[in-house]
Amino acid sequence: MSWDTVALEWTDDVATVTVDRPDSLNALNRETLLALEEAVARTRDDEARAVVLTGAGEDAFVAGADIAAMQEMDTDEAQEYTVIGHRVFDAIQNHEAPVIAAVNGYAFGGGCELALASDLRVASENAVFGQTEIDLGIIPGWGGTQRLPRIVGDATARRMIFLGERLGADEAAEVGLVEEVVPGDDLEDTVAGIAEEISAKPRFAMSAAKEALNQAHESPESAGLAFERRLWSGLFGTHDQREGMEAFLEKRDPDFE
Ligand code: COA
Repeated sequence: MSWDTVALEWTDDVATVTVDRPDSLNALNRETLLALEEAVARTRDDEARAVVLTGAGEDAFVAGADIAAMQEMDTDEAQEYTVIGHRVFDAIQNHEAPVIAAVNGYAFGGGCELALASDLRVASENAVFGQTEIDLGIIPGWGGTQRLPRIVGDATARRMIFLGERLGADEAAEVGLVEEVVPGDDLEDTVAGIAEEISAKPRFAMSAAKEALNQAHESPESAGLAFERRLWSGLFGTHDQREGMEAFLEKRDPDFE
């Protein structure tokens, strides 16, 4: 399945969504953002067990929102652009399956925010991250002010957003922005390996784990703990719960749904 600037490919139950607008370093203009939204919705409708997000080419993951398009916008148009961006990135964050960002180059502005909306981030050695909006006279507008501090801590987020600091892959790993840095040639295989491993795990437990982890940032801890209790007990009686425990006790590999 392919739109002009976004491609969707499948390997078994793993979907790979590629932003493909190399002339603009995969910057997300309105059309590309909407194509990304449709592609993500498709991965959900077709029940992907893991989703990989990446950018075409070797230079950029996504170099941000489209600056040429933004330059012309008035407040109402900017409002519409931020609403669409939030809708797409919320859909990624709330996707039932884990989403892995394979960051293969520049991840600036909205590109960094796209990685932040994902569950896991793996970077190639040439990746560079930055919430660079301050130098354009704006601030992150697709979730960066909320998701970045949660992932890297408040002080690092303030430094990145106030100074428009750019972090190389190793620096990004040091502050917890990426989990793993690999040579560019290994990125695809590394991420495919993680996605395959995730897709072999029990589906309902995986989506419950993600939902419970997301809830930790949505509500007071007491409400999050109550939510976890409900999700946890709700898994009892499922095929995968019975099978997983039975297999352990019988000292064999589980056969999940
Ligand atoms: N929006 C629109 N176009 C973009 C873009 C963006 N966010 N980022 C890059 N491009 C375009 C450039 O305008 C250029 O187009 P052109 O060939 O028609 O002139 C093309 O992509 C290549 O970019 P260029 O700047 O020539 O490449 P570079 O290798 O010298 O620099 C970057 C790469 C990423 C450092 C630089 O493009 C950059 O700083 N981009 C803006 C990043 C940013 O601030 N993003 C946040 C937006 S909210």
